[in-house]
Amino acid sequence: MAAHIGATGKRPPLWKHGYVTSTWVEPSSTATALLLLGQGADPASERGVDCPGELPPPSDPNLVARATAAKAALGDRVFVLGHHYQRDEVIQFADVTGDSFKLAREAAARPDAEYIVFCGVHFMAESADILTTSAQQVVLPDLAAGCSMADMAALPQVEAAWEALEELGVAGSTVPVTYMNSSADIKGFVGRHGGVVCTSSNAERALRWAFERGQRVLFLPDQHLGRNTAVLKMGLDADDCVLYDPHKPGGGLTAKQLREAKMILWRGHCSVHGRFTRSSVDEVRMRVPGVNVLVHPECRYDVVTAADYVGSTEYIIDTIEAAPAGSAWAVGTELNLVRRLANAHPDKQVMFLDRTVCYCSTMNRIDLPHLVWSLEELVAGRVPNQITVDPDTAHHARVALDQMLALP
Ligand code: 13P
Ligand code: SF4
Repeated sequence: MAAHIGATGKRPPLWKHGYVTSTWVEPSSTATALLLLGQGADPASERGVDCPGELPPPSDPNLVARATAAKAALGDRVFVLGHHYQRDEVIQFADVTGDSFKLAREAAARPDAEYIVFCGVHFMAESADILTTSAQQVVLPDLAAGCSMADMAALPQVEAAWEALEELGVAGSTVPVTYMNSSADIKGFVGRHGGVVCTSSNAERALRWAFERGQRVLFLPDQHLGRNTAVLKMGLDADDCVLYDPHKPGGGLTAKQLREAKMILWRGHCSVHGRFTRSSVDEVRMRVPGVNVLVHPECRYDVVTAADYVGSTEYIIDTIEAAPAGSAWAVGTELNLVRRLANAHPDKQVMFLDRTVCYCSTMNRIDLPHLVWSLEELVAGRVPNQITVDPDTAHHARVALDQMLALP
């Protein structure tokens, strides 16, 4: 079945109706997921980032009151951004919630806020620092909130790949495109080499822009978003795409493969969306007749092609909001967002696509104690966990980010 791939703001043209009334079924837990949610501690697996201050205990009954008071004391000096995958306890304090694209635009549109508190992950806070003025300071409440996908493309690896393309004489006809989910270093590399940043809301527009300027694209770091967009939106053949493995010499590809490819996909992926499989889709279709399957484009190609609708987190929200009462939806994205959608739409049956819990562990690092601590530090005149990007990297990354914001 061909999936409808959407962009923020566009409604799918028609709806399939399920037959069931709303009942949220909590996916079953795994020991790891519970640890990641703070219901246990596993110091051995932590990334070793200590909170430098006095973190309130999660059991403090005054956390909500403390966050409210600190935010009120800061007033317009602070602007809190919340990605859709954040916990409810954090989202309630966000001035704006959004997908990566919307949050990047919101950060750029707030020149008067002295502090941007970014409830999201490290690469998002870096982009906010690049897009805001030098008078503004960006705070990430927990420095351990990274992204495993972004970590899959390191600058020396990408530079080595580019050198291989230069040696083959094809770098000049290759345009690098990086997903927002990459480090500032990688965005800087892309800006230096005439490329563009994209998000899950504008990947198709970014690829069209790139193919007007070159014969092939080096797409970093999410192979799935790259493949799904190239094949399902741009009409490329699966054979036009090759997978570059940074851990193998020459990416594990021959010179002929690199020369002839239209899309060189970096071998990176999201470990959260990678959990959804074709059998999760088949299983929910058997269980819930008429169910609509709605997934994020970070899911694998076989999941996306088996789904009915595909789009960014903002698109997923718009789609469920526009759906008729009584319709049934199996959603393949991070669990905090899916549960929030189910609670917000009791007249529709919104369920999680997988049977077991699937949180983004790093997004979940931002919890209410870290948010309270960050806001109270700001009230006390100290800037905690400030995210800064060095000026040279920021300059080139900004070129690629501005190019994204200007995409037609
Ligand atoms: P969007 O919010 O842009 O859809 O991205 C999802 C994601 O994985 C962010 O880390
Ligand atoms: Fe990274 Fe995936 Fe988490 Fe997004 S959901 S921050 S891509 S690991």
